[in-house]
Parts: sequence; structure tokens; C-alpha cells
Amino acid sequence: MTPITAYAPGRVNLIGDHTDYTGGWCLPIALQWGTTVTGTSGGDRIVVGSDLDGATVTLPRSGVDPASLKGWARFVAAVVTEVRPSQGFTGRISTTLPVGAGLSSSAALEIALALALGFDGDPLALAETARRAEFAAVGVPCGIMDQLASTCGRAGHALLIDCDRCTVEDVAIPEGADICIIDPGQPRSLADSAYAERRAACAAAAEVIGPLRDATFDAVAAIPDEILRRRARHVVTENQRVLDTVAALRDGDWPAVGQAMLASHRSLRDDFEVSTPLLDETVDRLARTPGVFGARLTGAGFGGSVVAVCEVGALSTAVRVIPSQGAHRRP
Ligand code: GLA
Repeated sequence: MTPITAYAPGRVNLIGDHTDYTGGWCLPIALQWGTTVTGTSGGDRIVVGSDLDGATVTLPRSGVDPASLKGWARFVAAVVTEVRPSQGFTGRISTTLPVGAGLSSSAALEIALALALGFDGDPLALAETARRAEFAAVGVPCGIMDQLASTCGRAGHALLIDCDRCTVEDVAIPEGADICIIDPGQPRSLADSAYAERRAACAAAAEVIGPLRDATFDAVAAIPDEILRRRARHVVTENQRVLDTVAALRDGDWPAVGQAMLASHRSLRDDFEVSTPLLDETVDRLARTPGVFGARLTGAGFGGSVVAVCEVGALSTAVRVIPSQGAHRRP
């Protein structure tokens, strides 16, 4: 039996958070770290172990209710149920991604496992399979950003995702800066965050003024409810910042990228209210550091990591991002 190796990277989002589930734009990058599933197909059961905690889960090929399991096994159950593999699989999961750092470790696991189980389809279908598995596993009504970043990643590039049309455009990362990740050490789980509540607020705002993707600043300003108005203002301004950032990257204008990132952080902090004091402190400290162009929380917020852009070598202790290839399987 030929061993199968399937790999899926995590992602960092350069800019464009809490825009994907409203059909907006975002600009993630597939990371140089990810999750690998190795094993062999055959037999009638799915047997998967994890290097993370040494545990093993055994499931029928038809899957089981994820709620009957705990931890990472829930994701395995959800992926098996989605993929319905035509034969069994015995293998192991290992990862180079930190878990709970807001770098999409769950999407990477779902995608690598779906590939290992024989998923056959294009990168969008794979991303959608993983998104459904995420919802089934932990009830998080996430958008499509993390999964598309992982399936479509391209070395040296960020990915401009139009989340309404589900299209992905590669945007070359110009020379002249480092993109860094700073994890201040506040793990988060979206399952117990206000993520679903923020998503519902965006839907409620769209009931008032129509799709936020097409909304004008004047329409947003006229939303009577103060909270909904601020949530919508974040989304509408963030979409514009994504497009401005793409233009700045194409011009090689890193200071402009940094300014857009700082404005994004303020908007996530004040209008969308998904930052934390630790993330704010981290971004403020970075913004005062010589050679740093900008920084912001990345991903959903409520904890997790900060992404910064700086002159080459300016943040010598931070981890540098190497924009990398998306998910793949061998053979
Ligand atoms: C999480 C979700 C994504 C996206 C981000 C916020 O990572 O999984 O779909 O909504 O939060 O931008």
C-alpha cells in the first residue's frame, strides 16, 4: 500500500477581518507552517492518531456525531462525515502550527485530513468542505477566508479573496519589508467567543441597508442602531482598506500598507470590538518601534496573534512569514 501524505498550511491575514462572511474582501497569506496527515488507505475504519497529545480516534467510514467526541477528534469526525471516504484510512496527524494562535490550525487540519481521506475536487470545493466541517465540529459559523487561504496559497504571494464571488487573485509581495507574526500568548477559541454574535449583527445591518459590500458610507451613517452602525462601519471601511492595501503592495509602498493596518486595528478595536487589552498593547508597542510600518490583530480577534510589517530585520526577535504554497497530497 502506497503511503499518502497530505499537507495544508495555516494562514495569517494581512488585512480584511470580519469581512468574509459579509461577501467582502480579505488578503490572507498561506504560512510556511501547517498540518500533515500521513497514512495508508484500506480497511473499513478511520483510525487517526495525533502527535499533539498521542491520542488515537477510531471511527466508522460514515462518521459519528462530532459532539460525542472531544478536542481535535471532533474535527476528524466532522471531516469524515463530510468526505464519506470510499475506503478506510489509518494514519497520523502532526503539525508545525501553534494551536489557538489565530493562525487557522483547525482549517489546516480539516483540509489535510480531507485530502488524506481521498477528497477529490477543486480548491474551492475543498475549502467549502472544510468550512462545513468546522461548523459541524464546533458550531462556528465562519466565513471562507481561512480555508481558501490554505487551499489556494501561492509562494511569494498574498491572496486577494472576493468572498462574494469566491474568487482568489494572487498579489505579489514586493521586496523591502518583513511580514512578522507576534503571538502575545492569549490563546482563543472561537467556539466560546462572540464571533457568531458579530456575524449576526452584520446580517442585521444588511437587513437595514442592503449588502454591506455595496453600502456607501452615507448609508452606514444613517443606520439608527448605534451598535449595528459601528459594526457595519468597520466592514465597509475594512473592505476599502483591503483594496487600498493591494494597490499599495503593487506600488511597493510599505508605509501605506502599514497605515492601512493600523487603521484596521483601530476599527476592529473601536467599531467591531473584537480586540483585547493585550492585543492593543502589543500593537501600540509595535507602532512605536523604529522601523515598523504598521501592525494589527489578525483573524477573528478575542486573543490570537498580531501581524506586523517592518523594514527588513527591524523586528529581529519576531517570527518572519514566508508566503507559501497551498494544500497538496502525495501521491
Ligand atoms: C475567523 C474565521 C474567518 C474570518 C475571520 C475574521 O478566522 O474563521 O472566516 O471570519 O475569523 O476575519
